[in-house]
Amino acid sequence: MKHNLLEICYLIGSITFIIGLKMMGNAKSARKGNLIGAAGMTLAILGTIFLHEGDVSIIAMGLIIGGIVVGTAIGWMTAKNVQMTKMPELVSMFNGMGGACAALISIIEYNHLISTIENSPVLGLAMHFPGAFFVMYGGKMIAIILGLIIGTVSFSGSIIAYLKLNGTMNQPIRLPKYNILNTIVMIGVFAFGGFIIATGGNMMLVYLLFAAAIIYGILFTIPIGGADMPVVISLLNSFTGLAAAFGGFLYDNKIMLTGGILVGSAGTLLTLIMCKAMNRPLSNVIFGAFGGSAKTDSNASAAGAIKDIQVSDLAVLMNYSKRVVIVPGYGLAVAQAQHVIHELEILLEERGVEVKYAIHPVAGRMPGHMNVLLAEANVDYGKLVEMEDINPEFEQTDVVLVVGANDVVNPAAKTDPSSPIYGMPILDVDKSKNIIINKRSMNAGYAGIDNLLFYDPKASMFFGDAKKALTELVAELKTME
Ligand code: TAP
Repeated sequence: MKHNLLEICYLIGSITFIIGLKMMGNAKSARKGNLIGAAGMTLAILGTIFLHEGDVSIIAMGLIIGGIVVGTAIGWMTAKNVQMTKMPELVSMFNGMGGACAALISIIEYNHLISTIENSPVLGLAMHFPGAFFVMYGGKMIAIILGLIIGTVSFSGSIIAYLKLNGTMNQPIRLPKYNILNTIVMIGVFAFGGFIIATGGNMMLVYLLFAAAIIYGILFTIPIGGADMPVVISLLNSFTGLAAAFGGFLYDNKIMLTGGILVGSAGTLLTLIMCKAMNRPLSNVIFGAFGGSAKTDSNASAAGAIKDIQVSDLAVLMNYSKRVVIVPGYGLAVAQAQHVIHELEILLEERGVEVKYAIHPVAGRMPGHMNVLLAEANVDYGKLVEMEDINPEFEQTDVVLVVGANDVVNPAAKTDPSSPIYGMPILDVDKSKNIIINKRSMNAGYAGIDNLLFYDPKASMFFGDAKKALTELVAELKTME
């Protein structure tokens, strides 16, 4: 009876994951989808604790409940207080914890298996026959060892990604011949895992494998440049999903299996989508070491002078435009200028100006960053236009207002084969009649490279913090009624 109820809890939980994930595909239903998935997970956890067959000691139960309370409190507080711009760091830390859990499950289960064999004279004797260990426990061992390796790599890789994103580790570290070295270490780790699967062995071997996988996770992530971190996080996310799925296989636990597979496949798809948005193969992200040290375009200084525009002139220009396109970027998120940009949009629309937002797939610092940010300010979702759809419209655009965006409008991606962002599709803002760029200085964006767009004869810089500068622009426009 208990077992059947538990299976029903797991089934409901699995269904909520699928429905929740589907709902997250749309900004309007995403919040509800998240809650539905969380409710399913809560049901599965409660079911596991209270409907589990077999005895659980009071101490073990106390530890489980204590762990849940402490984990929930830390997770809740961190997620509640995190700034939107720090979200990728949070995702990478949470992902690392998931990987660590999968690795710990494998270590515990290996210990469990070895103790069972040691405590059984018959099994102990049987193990002396060559190949007996693999014949009897091969399937279980594959799940344990792969869960351990993949979960651990995801754990240590995510910690490095976290340190890179929060700026503690801001330069890629490339050891000599790092691609060859990493490949050798990876093969070594899997070969060692294969040896344990085939022969068994004491716990010391498993701890050594754990240490080796930690080292591989670090080596895998340290050479990758900061700008590629979202792709790496998404890839590590898919690793964690896979490791959790091995845990599900190990325990014959359907919800762990479903959840793991969903995370694994969603992470893989997101990784591929991001690579496509940057027009780079995944191998180039992993081995290409893009977005590393700051590179200055030597043509920039030769490109001529930049122009800046005063707020009064900009207000006039925008007031008498027919079509305005706003390009939001990372700086808009940093300045928290999403509400004032919406105010600007409403003001212009009231005066008969058509306003749209051009959304680049990797603008900001996480997938969908700009969509979430603008949704927070209640910007109509229909006004957000994807890159492929807005690019043909720039030619008919009177003013393009680039707010805190840099790499996603950098023409070097099209014109300079030596540029680290060469090949990444960009927003063709240089086709519009007037280009206004709001940022605080001439500093580079995430990829650390100069932007010749700022020197375009049609371009004018509107310097200042986005929130402050746009507030002044809105105030100026209001005086023009
Ligand atoms: P960036 O190229 O990073 O440029 C942002 C610009 O915002 C900077 O040049 C900065 O210039 C300006 N800025 C910063 N604070 C500001 C403020 N308070 N007010 C006004 N401007 C401010 O941004 P982007 O164009 O959105 O491109 C995103 C980059 O990040 C791409 O290279 C992408 O590959 C990478 N990336 C993307 C993701 C995802 S999945 N979205 C995740 C991680 C990294 P000043 O300092 O001069 O103000």
